Amino acid sequence: MEVRNIVILTGAGVSAESGLATFRGPDGLWEGHRVEDVCTPEAFARDPALVHQFYDARRARLAEVEPNSAHHALARLDAEWPGELLLVTQNVDDLHERAGSARLIHMHGELTSGWCLACNNRFPWAGEMNASSSCPTCTAPGMVRPDIVWFGEMPYAMERIEEALQRCDLFVSIGTSGAVYPAAGFVQTARYRGARTLEMNLEPSQGSYFFHESRIGRAGILVPAWVDEMLAAQSAQ
Ligand code: APR
Repeated sequence: MEVRNIVILTGAGVSAESGLATFRGPDGLWEGHRVEDVCTPEAFARDPALVHQFYDARRARLAEVEPNSAHHALARLDAEWPGELLLVTQNVDDLHERAGSARLIHMHGELTSGWCLACNNRFPWAGEMNASSSCPTCTAPGMVRPDIVWFGEMPYAMERIEEALQRCDLFVSIGTSGAVYPAAGFVQTARYRGARTLEMNLEPSQGSYFFHESRIGRAGILVPAWVDEMLAAQSAQ
């Protein structure tokens, strides 16, 4: 089957080899916190200091990590693939862009971005955030929150993602457990549309049976090999 348009979905597993923790570890906690204590709008309303602390620590961690071979391989594919390509990440780290991926959507937001609830502006953010942080344009204090899509909130760019899924010939999922919708349902949309579907993960994901092919192993090994395959097949056409 000739492939022209590709949609790639990544999750925490793609950044694991850079040293960033995945979410659904064996203890069921997110870096020591219950999801409902730090990753919901209700949690932010109840205890903004705790939520800021949680994201401050994750934002600070970005300076200590580097993109790995999976991020670099995906950036190479982005640069060299002549057809349509969209990389949709659920990750809020900045490792895909630091590796050089340009056709990229952060559907669950970004640690390096702030969002002002007063004026609805989103802006680059570095360093800590707290109750007196203010937005660069409207300067309303206390209205800035992490630009992260929490449970119960709508992911970003769903229309663009849906359009790309409707046009893709190949859907690839990398390093995601398939536990969180709507991202977990992208494989079904792509399959109904007639795309070939491939997952690369350390273990079969929850929606594994929707994929035509599952490659089980580390993203840092599997992804560069797959990108080599794709670019070799492309140049042979
Ligand atoms: N290579 C490939 N896969 C890996 C690796 C690796 N080196 N290390 C771990 N994995 C796999 C795990 O086996 C697991 O299936 O990555 C997956 C990570 O799953 P989750 O921790 O559930 O992360 P993710 O799927 O990205 O979570 C989705 O849930 O909590 C919300 O908003 C948060 O974006 C996140 C979303």
